[in-house]
Amino acid sequence: MGDPLAVRTVLVTGATSGIGLAAARALAAQGVNLVVLGRDEARTRAVRAELVEHGANPRVESAVCDLASAAAIEAFTRRFLAEHRELHVLVNNAGVWCSRRELTTEGHERTWATNVLGYHRLTRALEPALRAAREARVVNVASRLARDLDLDDVRFERRPWNGVTAYAQSKQANRMWTRALARRLAGSGVTANVMHPGGVNTGLFAKGGGWKGLVGSLYMKMFGRTPEQGADTIVWLATDPALRGKTGGFYAQRELRRCRFEDEAAEERLWARLEATA
Ligand SMILES: NC(=O)c1ccc[n+]([C@@H]2O[C@H](COP(=O)([O-])OP(=O)(O)OC[C@H]3O[C@@H](n4cnc5c(N)ncnc54)[C@H](OP(=O)(O)O)[C@@H]3O)[C@@H](O)[C@H]2O)c1
Repeated sequence: MGDPLAVRTVLVTGATSGIGLAAARALAAQGVNLVVLGRDEARTRAVRAELVEHGANPRVESAVCDLASAAAIEAFTRRFLAEHRELHVLVNNAGVWCSRRELTTEGHERTWATNVLGYHRLTRALEPALRAAREARVVNVASRLARDLDLDDVRFERRPWNGVTAYAQSKQANRMWTRALARRLAGSGVTANVMHPGGVNTGLFAKGGGWKGLVGSLYMKMFGRTPEQGADTIVWLATDPALRGKTGGFYAQRELRRCRFEDEAAEERLWARLEATA
């Protein structure tokens, strides 16, 4: 990070579309060793091919992993750690918004499994490589649409399931979890920050389906930012030398913002819950 020309290893999840793809393109252009992670083999390979052929960066690898699955994360991270001793930047970006309550094969509500457990499991498993890099950064993509986290009912067994509530609780958790992670990494040279990309015109809502997905998607088409604008703060947090050592912050549009969920005891409860589930 101090030397922008030094070759670093950067992993971006959800790099097959939207904000993650825009971030991957911008990071590839900086000449890093880039690992683009997706859940679909053909589309992930196509992104790699695009970045290698048109982005003029031969150092791009593709990796496939279903981040809603503990078993898939375990298999992927075992391979990754065998091939990479160090990881300098981890961008936890992959996320879903669902219009129907769905359980994963491992029995978790899909929004929580992907957006929260996915970030936690992947980061915990890759922690040895982040620490080995001595100076590394974790950048988490959250949202301003954040509320209704109920740590006693993350699966919606006691309250009615609603796609917006499930999404909003996952994004509140991303913000709280980042601060718990930053505390654990303090003094290691690894920082952890979280950001809101703005309302962005991507496939997030349409993929979720249903009329709310359609409305969300049309709204973003008309008023949303471009994926490149959404990715800007991610790339800045991942690479700007001026941010060296800055950790535990919530950012939007390259500015540190106040996070209304700051509550150490609640953040620690969330962390303990994720450790127990992971
Ligand atoms: N768009 C917005 O307005 C907005 C606002 C605030 C925050 N965000 C956040 O921004 C992040 C990126 O979203 P986006 O808007 O760019 O949506 P997107 O275009 O749908 O991108 C989401 C990415 O996550 C991947 N993904 C989903 N489930 C996965 C799984 N189980 N395993 C591995 N990868 C998986 C998707 O893969 P596929 O390509 O296979 O679908 C895709 O690459 C999310 O965390 C979202 O919550 C978005």
